[in-house]
Amino acid sequence: MLVHDFDQITQRRGTECKKYDTYAEDILPLWIADTDFQCPQPVIDAMVARAQHGIYGYPINAMNFNRAVAHWQKERFGWDVEAGWVEYTPAVIPAIIYAIKTFSQPGDQVLIQCPVYPPFHAAIINNGRIIVNNQLVLEDGQYHINFQDLEAKLKQPRTRLMVLCHPHNPVGKAFTREELLRIGELCAKHHVLVVVDEIHQDIIYHGCRHYPFASLSDTNRDNSITCVNPSKTFNTAGVRTGAVIIPDKAIRELFYECIVNHKSYGRTIFGTLPLEVAYTQCGYYADQLMAYLEINLKCLMDFVEQHLPGIRVIKPQATYLIWLDCRGLGLSQKDLVKLLMEKAKVALNDGESFGPGGTGFMRMNIACPKATLEEGLRRIQQAMV
Ligand SMILES: Cc1ncc(COP(=O)(O)O)c(C=O)c1O
Repeated sequence: MLVHDFDQITQRRGTECKKYDTYAEDILPLWIADTDFQCPQPVIDAMVARAQHGIYGYPINAMNFNRAVAHWQKERFGWDVEAGWVEYTPAVIPAIIYAIKTFSQPGDQVLIQCPVYPPFHAAIINNGRIIVNNQLVLEDGQYHINFQDLEAKLKQPRTRLMVLCHPHNPVGKAFTREELLRIGELCAKHHVLVVVDEIHQDIIYHGCRHYPFASLSDTNRDNSITCVNPSKTFNTAGVRTGAVIIPDKAIRELFYECIVNHKSYGRTIFGTLPLEVAYTQCGYYADQLMAYLEINLKCLMDFVEQHLPGIRVIKPQATYLIWLDCRGLGLSQKDLVKLLMEKAKVALNDGESFGPGGTGFMRMNIACPKATLEEGLRRIQQAMV
């Protein structure tokens, strides 16, 4: 079996890399959601071999792509996906935008659960729709859904879609089977289509489990669009390729019409190839990545508990994006951001960018070599004395 070296440090600065090249050299970046790990070797080998072919003309829309997505869902989650349900999209956020444009009108409402990934907010507002927030509730260190509030908002006649982040970024929640079934029932009852972003599906910590929303019931299956992308797991975000899984024929055809109208069906050779290789040959990498992230998570939790009073880790069930409750430091958000960026010289994501419920929080990406994470934690400790 192949063994991946997650301790390897690769220089990313100077490669037009958003994570590193956004900031000056003295800043340690632990923010945007890509990893500092090399891609799986089979992906690199396939890309190099294809590059050496030397001709990069128009590709056809081959079913290998669809089959690879279906294969991964079956192998990892036991979900029987038909290859015909799968459609290429340029990435997950464009897929969410196409869904919003296809299944709602300007002035309609789209429901999200804040604090949540900032591009969700932008995708709704920039397309003239209105955000409805079913605020997640923090209780005893974990986030919960307020189902009464959810139903009240789904019931509003102009609520057309719910964009469900599952697992949830940034709070790290892997929704339970019961929660997903209840969301599915409520959405179907009130004729609200569920767009499920499962991009973090592979990053699940020990003792937790990812249930694909659409796999749980006929109701969920027939009223959903599932978005995936191997990018979070295999570090391929820069190739800009995602996929949607839409079991219901009528929904699929309407969605596809939108893709055609935007001429977004044209695939890229260097986008589809890594997805196909990762989803068919690289289960070993996903397993080893999780084993490594478990170590990093423990390192972070121990360090924060011992050395960073005033900060509390919201223990994640999923994702390598850790939601840090910094309210105990008693700082304004402006001063908190300043402390971390200017004094500690680490770049984290500002909690306020995730919307209501984000004030007093910061998001840290731990998908880096452990040595990098330790350096970041040391910097924060030194800045706090
Ligand atoms: C929940 C979630 N959805 C989507 C994305 C972005 O996906 P894509 O690059 O495929 O648009 C991210 C990236 O961090 C994310 O966390």
